Amino acid sequence: MCGIVGYAGGAQAAPILLHGLKKLEYRGYDSAGIAVRDASSAHIEVIKAKGRLDRLMDMTGGGQAVCGMSGVGHTRWATHGEPSAENAHPHYSREKRVVIVHNGIIENYQEIRDMLERRGYRFHTQTDTEAAALLLDCAYAGEDGNSPQERAVHAIRTTMLRLQGSYALGILFHDQPDVVYAARRDSPLVVGRCTGEAHGHILASDVPAVLSYTRDVVYLDNMEIARITKDTLDIYSIDAERISKPMMHITWDAQAAEKGGYEHFMIKEIHEQPAAVRDTLSPRIVSRNGAPDTDLTETGLTDEEIRRIQRVLFVGCGSAYHAGLVGVGVTEALARIPCSAELASELRYRNAPVQPGTLCVLISQSGETADSLAALRLCKEKGMKTLAIVNVVGSSIAREADAVLYTHAGPEIAVATTKAYSAQLAALYLLAVHLSSRRAAISPAQKQELLEALTALDGKIKQALGEKTRIQRFANTFAACRDVFFIGRGLDHALCMEGSLKLKEISYIHSEAYAAGELKHGAISLIEDGTLVIGAATQPQVFAKMLSGIAEVKSRGACVLALSAQADDRLAEAADFCIGLPGTHPLFAASVGVVPLQLLAYYIACERGLDVDKPRNLAKSVTVE
Ligand code: G6P
Repeated sequence: MCGIVGYAGGAQAAPILLHGLKKLEYRGYDSAGIAVRDASSAHIEVIKAKGRLDRLMDMTGGGQAVCGMSGVGHTRWATHGEPSAENAHPHYSREKRVVIVHNGIIENYQEIRDMLERRGYRFHTQTDTEAAALLLDCAYAGEDGNSPQERAVHAIRTTMLRLQGSYALGILFHDQPDVVYAARRDSPLVVGRCTGEAHGHILASDVPAVLSYTRDVVYLDNMEIARITKDTLDIYSIDAERISKPMMHITWDAQAAEKGGYEHFMIKEIHEQPAAVRDTLSPRIVSRNGAPDTDLTETGLTDEEIRRIQRVLFVGCGSAYHAGLVGVGVTEALARIPCSAELASELRYRNAPVQPGTLCVLISQSGETADSLAALRLCKEKGMKTLAIVNVVGSSIAREADAVLYTHAGPEIAVATTKAYSAQLAALYLLAVHLSSRRAAISPAQKQELLEALTALDGKIKQALGEKTRIQRFANTFAACRDVFFIGRGLDHALCMEGSLKLKEISYIHSEAYAAGELKHGAISLIEDGTLVIGAATQPQVFAKMLSGIAEVKSRGACVLALSAQADDRLAEAADFCIGLPGTHPLFAASVGVVPLQLLAYYIACERGLDVDKPRNLAKSVTVE
């Protein structure tokens, strides 16, 4: 979703802004723009274009054609108003007295627009953002602070208090050369100190945009304002008081966010899954008295608290929700605690009764998904203990939850998540083993068996990747299909939901995931000659049932691809194609089963010639509701 970059320093701003925007491309966008202030002429140049960033690059000669050492840039994912050059950011008031870029949604923009129109302001776009720009202009005109700085901070503060919704803003004032302001509420912003040739300060929606210039960043918190110049970084609270915040050092490698020889980020990230799973698991599996044990001190849960848990509620969106469904199956099976998974966007408005003793596990790769963040706040408000499973260090969900269990998947760039989902599964398995052993719901021998299976899991995922050539061939054959059904039972149903989502996201083929036993209650009427059905059969207790389910669709003309770790002649006979999965503990089978499904979606999308890493209409980090 929209990305923001701002820079003030000793180098030409435009190439830095464009470079930063390039690194935010993964968030999804449909237009882009930059505003650069030339201190010598006091002119702010604004250049915007619909479509890919390359167009903006061409229009500005990679930024070389735009002169000035401070500016803001933006990639837009349309919410209010169609994707067009006019609606692209930056937006500005008359004579560009105030220029802003915005990520988020201004919910009360119509009310603000009406009020400003009554005061004689004219609007030129259909965006909600223009209302924020003109409101800030109005507040700035009315301020009479001691210094330009004080005027600006007070005007931003007044504007923030008036705006409803979510926003990260990057701001230029016409009469303040070489200064960039920023403010946030519920949309992420980091500010970094650049060294070397780009000496100065940079701000952005996400770390990859600043990594080429700095590793030392400050994460802005909600309702904070930042002011950057070449030499200074000042942060203010919403009361306009100066505050000091610690710099955090980013340890991950800039190369981790590069393609490294792969054709797409997605296929690179699929291959990084063994490492993501290993890095998430291994620091938390320790040896105690000669046997493996979990170390989840970071959850802050004492053994006594664990024993008192009455229910576990897993919450997330998209793939994170699907990981939560696996969490339900595994935690209920091992810890014998009643569990449920909720879509964050539903939980928010459902007014669900709170059961005392509920542990709420929030799952999010980005840690910034608007619905998940709102659900977290709601759960906290209702008195639940909250634990976040998050990939992005320092993100909003990580900071606001009572405790965090970080997944160590590294930066994930492709919009369709793969390695972060796998790392979430790993964290959820660990949590389930931890809760069950502390509640004495499993024996020491069972714990040892489970932890040994987890320790071997990265190797099994690697083995599953070995099938990629066969899957590619299969994908090429089916790339033109129209509908695909994924069927499975229990944990395999959750796995199917993730497989189906991957296919929809990047190949634009309609697909559905069905609990195999439910198909006969309606959807089986859609099966006809040649319909592709993917049957997941990793769960031994329902293996025979899956054989029947596959036979049912087969006899109606379906072409079946079966996934199973069990070498069974009956399955080989029932299905048209079989993908053998490496054997692992059945409770952890989603981790190996998902690999062929990801590869299938990937190769089908490639065969169809689609933009795998940046699928249409989708955004990596959904920071609006
Ligand atoms: C978007 C992404 C999905 C992701 C979901 C939740 O829709 O495209 O891949 O699963 O958001 O994101 P989160 O960052 O909260 O895991």
